[in-house]
Amino acid sequence: MNSKMLIDHLRTVPDWPIKGVNFRDITTLLKDPKCLKEINDEMYELYCDKGITKIAGIESRGFIMASALAIRIGAGVVLCRKPGKLPCPTVQQSYAKEYGIDTIEIHKDAITPDDVVLLHDDLLATGGTMQAAYKLVKKFHPKKIYCNFIIELMSEGLNGREKFDNEVEITSLLKL
Ligand code: PRP
Ligand code: HPA
Repeated sequence: MNSKMLIDHLRTVPDWPIKGVNFRDITTLLKDPKCLKEINDEMYELYCDKGITKIAGIESRGFIMASALAIRIGAGVVLCRKPGKLPCPTVQQSYAKEYGIDTIEIHKDAITPDDVVLLHDDLLATGGTMQAAYKLVKKFHPKKIYCNFIIELMSEGLNGREKFDNEVEITSLLKL
């Protein structure tokens, strides 16, 4: 994988959205056709032979590459959304954020026990969001669950991976 090209194109925005956060902005990767293809190719290599039937993208940046890969490997796309956005009955999972509680949800009919699910998001920081998404998808009892990120933050004392048990395979394209 051409990690250097991706790192060179990734924009880091200091003090956004709040002071002290170095925000990793993937829009500069998405707008570059070569980077976009590199991310898609790498995800394809990782998951083309895993029998994945559904890719669950986490709102909102997770939707983008989830969709691109799903089309390529012949899987369906599932939306893992913030509350109140999905029109039909949902299964929900709440989780603790820095301030207060957040919730994510998936339509009740989106995943079946026959599915092999790949959960995808743009970035792993504390791991709170993906841990909630993982617990949520587990409620559907799919055959297997994989987790993938474009970026895994490992500096700043973050170790999001520690939130997961060994039964889940987690991959990330860039460890920063
Ligand atoms: C960001 C990012 C992940 C999450 C990672 O989403 O896209 O979903 O935070 O953080 P964590 O590992 O500490 O949980 P954000 O809440 O900014 O939502 P958005 O994609 O809708 O902007
Ligand atoms: N980029 C995108 N989402 C995030 C980040 C970031 O740097 N940190 C926590 N969530």
